[in-house]
Amino acid sequence: MAPDHTAVAHPNIALVKYWGKRDEKLVIPNVDSLSMTLDVFPTVTTVRVTPGEPTDTVTFDGATAEGEQRLRITEFLDLVRKTAGRPERATVDTRNAVPTGAGLASSASGFAALAVAAAAAYGLDLDPTALSRLARRGSASAARSIFGDFAILYARRGDAADADLNSYAEPVPVPDFDPALVIAVVNAGPKAVSSRTAMRRTVETSPLYWPWARAGTTDLADMRAALNRGDLDAVGEIAERNAFGMHATMLAARPAVRYLSPATVAVLDGVLRLRADGVPAYATMDAGPNVKVLCHPADAARVAATMGEAAPGCTVVIARRGPGAALRSGDGP
Ligand code: DP6
Repeated sequence: MAPDHTAVAHPNIALVKYWGKRDEKLVIPNVDSLSMTLDVFPTVTTVRVTPGEPTDTVTFDGATAEGEQRLRITEFLDLVRKTAGRPERATVDTRNAVPTGAGLASSASGFAALAVAAAAAYGLDLDPTALSRLARRGSASAARSIFGDFAILYARRGDAADADLNSYAEPVPVPDFDPALVIAVVNAGPKAVSSRTAMRRTVETSPLYWPWARAGTTDLADMRAALNRGDLDAVGEIAERNAFGMHATMLAARPAVRYLSPATVAVLDGVLRLRADGVPAYATMDAGPNVKVLCHPADAARVAATMGEAAPGCTVVIARRGPGAALRSGDGP
């Protein structure tokens, strides 16, 4: 029997967001994005090549995967098989510590772990840049989870004729900045509109989309400078304006995409109260109602308590910078 290859990856939260693709098939973003990989909510994925089996077997959080969920994984394996020049099917077992599809970046950790485990199982010797390009094909944000700490995903870098080669992630060294990111899970259920559908609709119909995308260039340059200075207030202000702008593009889509719920707004009010009380705290939200708040580690417990009071019943988790995707020791090529 072929050996198991198990990889662990963590979600990342973008401080300058990706929203909208210029190539849907190759999963290439319209805009550069910059994120922090977390030390919570890992995905653990095991891949084993199964010679002689007619189909892939995919287990997701202990249950057989079906429909769209299964298709995204089997199509990803097809890409790995094509790259490796090997036809065998595989078994995939993937487990998320985070609610799947709730805007908590489970597709980022999921496809980063799958890319690392599947590449090893099929004997592909890929460097981190190539792994990030592979992970991107599953979900663009997954490219950033190949790396720990802070990472940038380029929409287009270099002038290779093959567009796929120009979109990849790389680490952003940030030596002197180690914030906390406090996550309020106000609703762990799956989102009503997938981010894939929502971003397509936004690009096609929102008059605010391209102004936001263009402003992202400034946000990214300002964010890099703020990270270099270790300036929490500047990092937070840029992250907030970029995230609110992204949600504004969605609200202006036709029909509108609205991920923010009353509980989201209550937590956002809590963040404003913290700032009024002199606690630096800044919010960001992705394709779901959950709120992530950037703050100094020394303030994290107070921030967490305020978020919990603002949205009674929500789960609050304090995250820090986390590691990049990796094979579990003993599973190397
Ligand atoms: C709002 O990476 O989940 O979290 O590439 O279609 O799989 P696909 O989308 P996905 O979108 C993430 C969007 C975001 C912002 C971000 O992570 O940059």
